Amino acid sequence: MYHIIMDNFTGKYCVVTYGCQMNLHESEKLAGILEDLGFTRIDNENNADIVVFNTCCIRENAEKKAEGNIGALKRIKRNKKDMIIAVGGCMTQQAGYADKLIKEFPFIDIVFGTHNLENFAEMLTERLENKKHVVKVDEKEGKIIEGTKKTRSSFPNGWVNITYGCNNFCTYCIVPYVRGRERSRAPEAILDECKQLLDAGYKEITLLGQNVNSYGQDLKTVDFAELIERISALDGDFRLRFMTNHPKDLNEKMVKAIAESPKTTRSVHLPVQAGSDRILKLMNRHYTRAEYLDKVALLRKYMPDIAITTDIMVGFPTETDEDFNDTVSLVKQVGFAGAFTFVYSPRTGTPAAKMAGQIPEEVSKERIMGLIDLQNGINRAQSKSYLGKETEILCEGFDEKKNKFLGRDTYGRMAYFDGKDLIGKFVNVKITKAGGISLYGELVSVKQ
Ligand code: SAH
Ligand code: SF4
Ligand code: F3S
Repeated sequence: MYHIIMDNFTGKYCVVTYGCQMNLHESEKLAGILEDLGFTRIDNENNADIVVFNTCCIRENAEKKAEGNIGALKRIKRNKKDMIIAVGGCMTQQAGYADKLIKEFPFIDIVFGTHNLENFAEMLTERLENKKHVVKVDEKEGKIIEGTKKTRSSFPNGWVNITYGCNNFCTYCIVPYVRGRERSRAPEAILDECKQLLDAGYKEITLLGQNVNSYGQDLKTVDFAELIERISALDGDFRLRFMTNHPKDLNEKMVKAIAESPKTTRSVHLPVQAGSDRILKLMNRHYTRAEYLDKVALLRKYMPDIAITTDIMVGFPTETDEDFNDTVSLVKQVGFAGAFTFVYSPRTGTPAAKMAGQIPEEVSKERIMGLIDLQNGINRAQSKSYLGKETEILCEGFDEKKNKFLGRDTYGRMAYFDGKDLIGKFVNVKITKAGGISLYGELVSVKQ
């Protein structure tokens, strides 16, 4: 059926992704569905027969970017009437957004919510048969659907979902509204997927969840620590990573399991968001500055060399200079191995968007610049300490611009080096030059 319909097309698809790793992985599922239907991948959306936008709405600029790119296809579609344009992902899941989207961009063919991704093939058929818009945005999450084919694009790393959704309702965050309640995937399904990846030669597994530490709370038969132990017991030379951790749920049992695993990397992403207790409370993060620092100390007790990275937000409603200075002092105190910094962006429907005391953009901009400068200095100092040392890297890819291979060490530090045929291999690299956060070095040996 699909193939007969698809014969009308030249059969090229393009999935354009915005947002987090979760979305990147979901685009791998969309690619799997489309390839199953007979489409082949093309990277330029203007030349595709079907374009799927997998969107993000975490901050306003993510939405603006997607809307701009969708709008740009209007002109292309005018000369290419058969082109199918589909929009899915977090943006479409916001209340009333699907209708607004169709009104603003009537040339869109399909709008689907985050809970409807697995049914993309049926939506496409419906669209091709009825020649109308197809809009499917279920308000509530359904049961986890297993077995969706994936066309992965991140070898030698394989993403593996362990939870979907989020129950935390941080007051600034749209995710719980667009991804639904937290659901943990059955451990057997996770282990099966990990095994398949390892059998296919993947060398790194990254477990994905909005809060991986609360994995299993709904299943009640397994927790995150046990999951780490079970995956770590799988045969093979591979690295195990996971994101994102939530400081309120990371506990000693988990830290021990991470420390004792022969596979986990020595890097942990532990978003702090802010260093002021007053702001953390307003954010509904469920930890204080002191409790966050206790979690850092716990990680360092079991893994003294652990590299801790973080997310930080500036300009949350009512943030004073004093609050911001608490963030600055925390950054200095912890010595993060990297930090993603964001200016707070009000999201309609979240409690923070209605709070009094929204911070002017100029103030937030100035604060974030100060923070970036500070973290850059920390990164530079940490990079310099690598000079002359050897570090084991998993080669992840080739950078065309730099004309060098690249990969990360166990601390998550990126390094560039010359060589031949290295993707998916563990290599030793001697660091000869330290950039801001990246390193440059010479290939010493390749692990066989
Ligand atoms: N579940 C993860 C992260 C989800 S979003 C966690 O809890 O850590 C990734 C990051 O985006 C967050 O850590 C936060 O720093 C940032 N973010 C989320 N909502 C935002 C908003 N409204 N404005 C600016 N940054 C935001
Ligand atoms: Fe958003 Fe908080 Fe959930 Fe992370 S934990 S996704 S920041 S609500
Ligand atoms: Fe991810 Fe953006 Fe959705 S960060 S969960 S794609 S809102």
